[in-house]
Amino acid sequence: MRLMFCGDVVGRSGRDAIAAHLPVLKKDLSLDFVVVNGENAASGFGMTEKICNQFFEAGADVVTGGNHSWDQRECISYIEREPRLLRPMNFPEGTPGKGAAVFDAPGNRKVLVMNAMARLFMDPLDDPFAAVRKIMDRVKIGHNVDAVILDFHGEATSEKVAMGHYLDGKASLVVGTHTHIPTADHQILVGGTAFQTDAGMTGDYDSVIGMNKEVPVQRFLKKMPTERMRPADGEATLCGIFVETDDETGLARRVEPVRVGGRLSQMVPAVQG
Ligand code: FE2
Repeated sequence: MRLMFCGDVVGRSGRDAIAAHLPVLKKDLSLDFVVVNGENAASGFGMTEKICNQFFEAGADVVTGGNHSWDQRECISYIEREPRLLRPMNFPEGTPGKGAAVFDAPGNRKVLVMNAMARLFMDPLDDPFAAVRKIMDRVKIGHNVDAVILDFHGEATSEKVAMGHYLDGKASLVVGTHTHIPTADHQILVGGTAFQTDAGMTGDYDSVIGMNKEVPVQRFLKKMPTERMRPADGEATLCGIFVETDDETGLARRVEPVRVGGRLSQMVPAVQG
């Protein structure tokens, strides 16, 4: 199975990159299943029904969230109507929506997608490791699901790496999001799980993590209120990770970074068939 995960889409330039590049990648890489993190897609803060539909039309199968999941209030009701939109599973009990679900993929296959939020330098939420374990107790990759993907939304590299090892051999892909900077550590862990500490953002890299650079720089220079931060509007780089899984085990056979458009060095995996 061929999977792709696209990192945090920031603002209009990020949305344009998804619309322009995702349909092409889906075809050229023969992708079976695509997950997009959309929590910064609406002017950097949250997402909307219209934006999620644009992602689904471009080829996304599931849209994940994070600490900005509720920044656009319409998502609080929208998530109850749209099973393909996830929010972190370790939000408090009673929170609308779901943090994990099994989705259909071509060829009668099943993909479990989970979205969890890390805790170091983040909001004090329930233990994400326990939340993941609770789901994984009922799931066996290669038996009742064909692939497992976790979007682990967090600040600290250590916590994200630890989650990768925690799920090693149980998931097809554990990928970090939230820092908006792609890491170069994509690898297949010893147990067969593809891992990358952070997928990076799908946004304009002539920016401070997606935002127009002047205002954030001023915030570091002077401890004074500044004008509102706005997403940078130059051409975005679609950043993500491509994983090919073994059809028997559901574990990773190949992992490659994806970077298309914009300022970052370009990288599209060569695939056959
Ligand atoms: Fe975030």
